[in-house]
Amino acid sequence: MQKGMTITQFLIEKQRDFTSATGDFTALLNGVVVACKRIAGAVNKAGLIGVLGAEDSENVQGEVQKKLDVISNRYMIESLEWGGYLAGMASEEEETCYQIPDQYKKGRYLILFDPLDGSSNLDANISTGTIFSILKAPEGKPNIEDADFLQPGTEQVCAGYCMYGPATVMVLTTGQGVNAFTLDRDVGEFYLTEENIRIPEDTREFAINASNSRFWEPPVKRYIDECLAGTEGPRGENFNMRWVASMVAEIHRILSRGGIFMYPRDTKDPSKPGRLRLMYEANPMSMIIEQAGGASTTGRGRIMEVQPEGLHQRVPVILGSKNEVDRVTSYHNE
Ligand code: AHG
Ligand code: MN
Ligand code: MN
Repeated sequence: MQKGMTITQFLIEKQRDFTSATGDFTALLNGVVVACKRIAGAVNKAGLIGVLGAEDSENVQGEVQKKLDVISNRYMIESLEWGGYLAGMASEEEETCYQIPDQYKKGRYLILFDPLDGSSNLDANISTGTIFSILKAPEGKPNIEDADFLQPGTEQVCAGYCMYGPATVMVLTTGQGVNAFTLDRDVGEFYLTEENIRIPEDTREFAINASNSRFWEPPVKRYIDECLAGTEGPRGENFNMRWVASMVAEIHRILSRGGIFMYPRDTKDPSKPGRLRLMYEANPMSMIIEQAGGASTTGRGRIMEVQPEGLHQRVPVILGSKNEVDRVTSYHNE
């Protein structure tokens, strides 16, 4: 593939591989790209235009909404609702699915998104991101409902995220590998910067919120204890630890150099089987990780095979370098 390719050119060239393609999918991704550029601008200028900090509102999950959560959600909806390619949307910030307003044409796809992941980091100027997952809509239904989104992750036709870090980077998969595009702010376009990303199968770096350790289940506790024991423990090697508290940033680090990320099931709040949400965090990130040669599990099964029961359902998440994820899985099986 030639260097200097824009994401628009990349999507148009990919579309040519499908003779039956209508251009709807390409247009949908273009809408996501526009939304993410707008969000990147807002995140970048937040301190200057007075949109750091929290709203007075909470989202459906009882989490305080940041001003930028609300703005990012609006930008996603505004950029995507008019295009005629979507049958509906679902968002972390919306209690139920979003219907395409009547004045717009409806289309064949569904999108789910976390408009701004890691938003608790915004005031500290730490990286955040937008995560999205695209599914096919059921055919012949005039109005979409929440149940139409409850498809396992294996049904995703595309998954991606845009990271708002020192550089703004869009990472995408349509099931044929993972590619990354970096925003050139002077031009206003994303350029292909990494092709067919592969995650090393081995790693000596883990990411977990260790403040929850007293609530972990035995397999996770065993795995982390063995890492912490270093050269004196059963692994016979020292491990390194990272925790950004922005899933997008953790996944991006794992794509760049390997690693294992865990937000496992714990006993802190028995009503929640994990912290992260299946539909717009765990599933899209699992598709990206698997497409890059990594693995992704709840500890008890492949995340993308979990049958969803609700839009905001939470799941345990263990993903990253294959051999370490397989090891944690084997500890769960013992
Ligand atoms: P969100 O900001 O969309 O609510 O998601 C934050 C998530 C995820 O990005 C991160 O890995 C995790 O929450 C951090 O959890 P802790 O605050 O427990 O570290
Ligand atoms: Mn999130
Ligand atoms: Mn969020």
